[in-house]
Amino acid sequence: MTIRPVAGRLGILTPGLGAVATTFIAGVESIRRGLSVPIGSLTQMATIRLGKRTDNRSPLLKDFVPLVNLDDIVFGAWDPIPDDAYTAAKKAGVLEERDLEPLKEFLSGIRPMPAVFDNHYVTRLHGTNVKTGKNKRDLAEQLRQDIRDFKKNNQCDRLVAVWCGSTEIFIKPSAVHQTIASFEKAMEENHEDIAPSMLYAWACIMEGVPYCNGAPNLAVDTLALIELANQKGIPISGKDFKTGQTWIKTVIAPGIKARMLGLKGWYSTNILGNRDGEVLDDPASFKTKEESKLSVLHTILQPELYPQLYKDFSHVVRINYYPPRGDNKEGWDNIDIVGWMNYPMQIKINFLCRDSILAAPIVLDLALFSDFAHRAGMKGIQEWLSFYYKSPMTAAGLQPEHDLFIQQTKLKNTLRHLMGEEQITHLGLEYYP
Ligand SMILES: NC(=O)c1ccc[n+]([C@@H]2O[C@H](COP(=O)([O-])OP(=O)(O)OC[C@H]3O[C@@H](n4cnc5c(N)ncnc54)[C@H](O)[C@@H]3O)[C@@H](O)[C@H]2O)c1
Repeated sequence: MTIRPVAGRLGILTPGLGAVATTFIAGVESIRRGLSVPIGSLTQMATIRLGKRTDNRSPLLKDFVPLVNLDDIVFGAWDPIPDDAYTAAKKAGVLEERDLEPLKEFLSGIRPMPAVFDNHYVTRLHGTNVKTGKNKRDLAEQLRQDIRDFKKNNQCDRLVAVWCGSTEIFIKPSAVHQTIASFEKAMEENHEDIAPSMLYAWACIMEGVPYCNGAPNLAVDTLALIELANQKGIPISGKDFKTGQTWIKTVIAPGIKARMLGLKGWYSTNILGNRDGEVLDDPASFKTKEESKLSVLHTILQPELYPQLYKDFSHVVRINYYPPRGDNKEGWDNIDIVGWMNYPMQIKINFLCRDSILAAPIVLDLALFSDFAHRAGMKGIQEWLSFYYKSPMTAAGLQPEHDLFIQQTKLKNTLRHLMGEEQITHLGLEYYP
């Protein structure tokens, strides 16, 4: 397998310059200056075991796989709100003054390009930094021009895009999403089923830019855009960063199932007070999120295989917008499990998490791995990146894998495979006759 060299600069483009994107950008700059450590990032901190356990080979992932160096990254963004990255980060309230002030000049220099934005799809926001055009196709063509200009002006060798924009209203795949031709026709006809996030995805793929979808929006997860990505040889992945409560779910649920314990119910509730919480306060946007959060348990527990343990368990997810809490979300989980002779037990989890602090390293890893995948000639859906997503994209007809540890194995085995190393099955063959 030939992997194109990592030389040159990588531009990371984020549609959305809110809490997640600014925390990501500020963090990378802070790491580059030696002011912080890339905690939470596999590309920067994880090791990978190679060969037999007795070989004692566990290099850092970044020494094993040719990933772009953080010093060679430049940032660009679109947002309907015209705030530069410093102002947006201050408003987001994730990072403290002591961490933001040293980065003020750098962050102030990152100003969002005018967005393709329509209030119909994100009802709670009213942006002024918005493109106008004669139809959706025209708007998407303007995004393509932005991409070309950004690449040239910043002397980038390659680009990747990670959607860090708001969650849009729930849209079901329809006829317009079936083929590239129907999709492009629908853009010209301003069809309602074509949301802004889809226009960014289309523009990126057309410009040869891998696209990662951090929100639950359909965006790139349609037959038309998957086909386009395959045709153009572009890696795509999604949907919805797996950060707080769902991450915990995909750690705990496999543990319950591994021990063949039963589940009667799982009640999850959250309070959060950031702009994301405000957007999700709209039932149409929340429905998109809810769909993404609900699918996880069924796929992990497989009630069809284990009806005595998991048939008809109750799963409820709530998100409540509560402004005083800002970006520091609080999640409660009440898990009703069942053991030997049907005796009930409960697990309670109270997770005081910081959403964007958990999401930022995911943005970094997705960008670096997608750039690597592109250079390695991978195209279409990158299932090995499911590790980072709440509702991983899969080929039509396949169930997504949600178990965090299976996802991690798949991620590392994919890297081993691409780099010509043996995959690790954890089967110590030397002990068997
Ligand atoms: N923080 C997490 O842990 C986490 C986890 C999973 C998913 N997400 C998703 O990531 C996204 C970003 O989260 P956040 O906390 O940064 O939200 P945020 O509200 O702080 O930032 C989103 C930004 O996107 C902008 N935006 C909206 N529509 C846009 C468009 N069409 N084009 C360009 N920009 C647009 C908004 O103006 C806003 O500045 C949300 O969709 C959220 O649901 C976040």
